[in-house]
Amino acid sequence: MPEADIVQLHDGAEPNPARLIAKLENVVFAARSRKLVDGLTFSLRNNGITTIMGPNGAGKSLALRLLARLLLPMDGYVHECGLAARDIALVFQKPVMLRRSVKGNLIHALKLHGVNRRERPERLAELLRMADLEHLSSSPARLLSGGEQQRLALVRALAAQPRLLLLDEPTASLDPQATQAIEKLVMQASNNGTKIVLVTHDIGQARRLAFDVVFLHQGFAHEHSPAETFFTEPQSLEAMAYLKGELLV
Ligand SMILES: Nc1ncnc2c1ncn2[C@@H]1O[C@H](COP(=O)(O)OP(=O)(O)OP(=O)(O)O)[C@@H](O)[C@H]1O
Ligand SMILES: [Mg+2]
Repeated sequence: MPEADIVQLHDGAEPNPARLIAKLENVVFAARSRKLVDGLTFSLRNNGITTIMGPNGAGKSLALRLLARLLLPMDGYVHECGLAARDIALVFQKPVMLRRSVKGNLIHALKLHGVNRRERPERLAELLRMADLEHLSSSPARLLSGGEQQRLALVRALAAQPRLLLLDEPTASLDPQATQAIEKLVMQASNNGTKIVLVTHDIGQARRLAFDVVFLHQGFAHEHSPAETFFTEPQSLEAMAYLKGELLV
């Protein structure tokens, strides 16, 4: 058993009045004796979308996997505030589609989530409409374009009505229209009360969506600031360099 554990954290542990959803505390994760995440600490609160930014290899995807409990920390803690594993969903950068139709993928997700047979058609129709995929509902999911697959992956994750939705670069390599469609879905989910954590390299997107920004570099959070100030007055030298396009891992 690793020393570290997943701990339930109760409200009121910190002064910020917004409700605490989860917290990483001094988390360490290593592979092949290299520390990939080293003393990672940040909190997630229910007041808007949190973006995680940082250069390639900074540990952003690892941070999402740690939050989703797909990886266990070797030291430190992942606190979750009253969240069960089923309340957390992670959408990977390259979504994995089941070898079924679009509809089949969504029905599978609804079944897994325990939605009963009678309610499924209505929920399915709603998800297809949200993703604007009604016209492709019978197509094999694996043949969809990148943007269509991203939209499907997002509504498939939403089928489980997660309380914490972790999105790893959901619009990387998508055109502006597809990006806008994803951003709209993300904002809708956030407005409906799902806590969203979004990894992105797209500064414009982070400016449009983020309430706060966690900036990672070399497996460590160098800054966690409100979006209002992050882009104009970053507090850390690392974030400053990244925003100027100067920071390399
Ligand atoms: N299972 C693993 N074994 C060894 N090294 C790993 C493993 N997973 C990730 N890494 C390394 O850990 C570092 C952080 O990886 P991570 O995928 O979290 O980066 P990232 O910030 O998401 O980068 P990107 O912007 O390129 O997606 C990288 O140097 C990566 O090569
Ligand atoms: Mg990544």
